[in-house]
Amino acid sequence: MTNVVVVGSQWGDEGKGKIVDWLSERADIVVRFQGGHNAGHTLVIDGISYKLSLLPSGIVRPGKIAVIGNGVVLDPHALLAEIEKLGAQGVKVTPENLRVADNATLILSLHRELDGMREDAASNSGTKIGTTRRGIGPAYEDKVGRRAIRVMDLADMETLPGKVDRILTHHNALRRGLGEKEVSHEAIMQELTSVADRVLPFRETVWELLDKQRRKGARILFEGAQGSLLDIDHGTYPFVTSSNTVAGQASAGSGMGPGALGYILGITKAYTTRVGEGPFPTELKDEIGQFLGEKGHEFGTVTGRKRRCGWFDAALVRQSVATNGITGIALTKLDVLDGLDELKICVGYMLDGEQIDHLPASQGAQARAEPIYVTLEGWKESTVGARSWADLPAQAIKYVRQVEELIGAPVALLSTSPERDDTILVTDPFED
Ligand code: IMP
Repeated sequence: MTNVVVVGSQWGDEGKGKIVDWLSERADIVVRFQGGHNAGHTLVIDGISYKLSLLPSGIVRPGKIAVIGNGVVLDPHALLAEIEKLGAQGVKVTPENLRVADNATLILSLHRELDGMREDAASNSGTKIGTTRRGIGPAYEDKVGRRAIRVMDLADMETLPGKVDRILTHHNALRRGLGEKEVSHEAIMQELTSVADRVLPFRETVWELLDKQRRKGARILFEGAQGSLLDIDHGTYPFVTSSNTVAGQASAGSGMGPGALGYILGITKAYTTRVGEGPFPTELKDEIGQFLGEKGHEFGTVTGRKRRCGWFDAALVRQSVATNGITGIALTKLDVLDGLDELKICVGYMLDGEQIDHLPASQGAQARAEPIYVTLEGWKESTVGARSWADLPAQAIKYVRQVEELIGAPVALLSTSPERDDTILVTDPFED
């Protein structure tokens, strides 16, 4: 028995929701360790659909502990709204089943506003990132700039006013520069005191909780958000999110030492999608891209934006296998490829007349890299709902085997529809 870390191996939206839900049923504790309410997934349990952005998936299952780790940036209003929404659906969120790290950074209204102001300003110059405008980046900036307000600060009215002054000195200078109205000390104090009583009951020394639970033999599931190619260091910078999304962050973002992380499961879509701006070498701007988008329902859960679609990029996923230390992958949405005459997989790139096997880190080179493809025959049969290898057409199996070989990691789970049971289980990550 081991713990499991789930990460996205592409640009997010790999179909983590279903797999995380399947795993969270087997887990005792489910931990979010990075990102914030920029994430979004829908869980369907017994016919009821739950939309989660900030809360870990385990929250909808009785008897589990859901944990928001220190690596998350937490918008208290979003948290309270999500708790209320779940409450209306009959899921009671209490300090028994939700713990929030007392050292997690808070997202304030000024972070959300700054995110929007910057994106608007950048739109005019064609340099926007296409963020979710939820204040994620600005909140992480304040964390690293050592002026953030953290969960525990809500309990200390002695030191809070000084911290508010400090963060405002920075933000008001920026706002003046952008020609925007300044924010008052009173407004931020009011914002914080209005949520303090409702957030503080959830506060926890998370590293200690996880240490105790680990020693007791609890199964811990770490639920990553976004994807490895959106990682602040390893992603397609600057078109990335502001956190480390790779598996190593499960340790730093929760306080559990890396030796106890266990199985690293990379959720991998059978083709590629991306929301927002940035390089995407295998993007298909033709009718095949359209086909994938429509059949795969490729619209963002958080912003409703249309996702860009393209062929599977094995060179990029091979990089994710390395940067995360992926033990095995969960391959999702194979059924979306049903009916295509032929399928392409990117195995490397041509850059300035030379063949290379990985996407370079430089923005300019990323924009110039041209994919090199291998072409496989497609299959006409439906793979929807397949629950064993025997249910799959020979060409589909060939495609999966080719993916495994090119990325250098085995398939542990293969998902063939949004339904929970439509999954081919090769390896149970908790039992590996
Ligand atoms: P931010 O995380 O809101 O700062 O957005 C930065 C980039 O990450 C943008 O390209 C977003 O579209 C992308 N992004 C953020 N969260 C997600 C997600 O959960 N799925 C897919 N893309 C995301």
